Amino acid sequence: MEKNSDKKHPGGVSRRDFIKGMGTGALGTAVLPPLLGQTIATRKGRVPVYDKKTITLTVNGKKASLTVEPNETLLDVLRDRLDLTGAKKVCDRGECGGCTVLLDGAPVYACMYLAIRADGKAVKTVEGLAEGEKLHPVQEAFIEKDGYQCGFCTPGFLMTTSAFLEKNPAPSLDEIKQALSGNLCRCGNYAKIYGAVDTAARKMRGA
Ligand code: FES
Ligand code: FES
Repeated sequence: MEKNSDKKHPGGVSRRDFIKGMGTGALGTAVLPPLLGQTIATRKGRVPVYDKKTITLTVNGKKASLTVEPNETLLDVLRDRLDLTGAKKVCDRGECGGCTVLLDGAPVYACMYLAIRADGKAVKTVEGLAEGEKLHPVQEAFIEKDGYQCGFCTPGFLMTTSAFLEKNPAPSLDEIKQALSGNLCRCGNYAKIYGAVDTAARKMRGA
């Protein structure tokens, strides 16, 4: 069975691989400095060894440059360094989707994505979904259809839905359920969430 720390999203390096790469027993700190910037072998193949790095992100349309630790997640950078707390840290292990943001337009679990790997990419968080005062149709639909209760899962659902409807503007209920299967709602508000997604799709199609 896959351990949580083995979880990867497409194109990513899991934290487990990373930690293994950073300190394999006695190899540890004595040998790491000469290895920085190279790769070392693990049971799962070769993984890169990183030092701190200055990265540049385009977050909600604005450039941000900052120096990150090699083990800092994108979620921690967004929440703790850039003060964008819309993406929620709930499980912090790739289980719930509360931390979902868009990376170059695709939804990712920000808690499982190393910030260093996001260098040069465009990040969209729920704070960047509305255009000024004008809410995104997905936000409008979630409000109209009561697509939230406590609201803690909502930012993740909004981000996943907005990316999904760009690709599939007229989804069936089964397709909606499949697309949102990586997002969990502890309030169990799924019926209304699916209804909100259907309404959002209609709005975005102008139907
Ligand atoms: S907080 Fe990232 S998936 Fe749950
Ligand atoms: S509305 Fe409460 S967790 Fe989804």
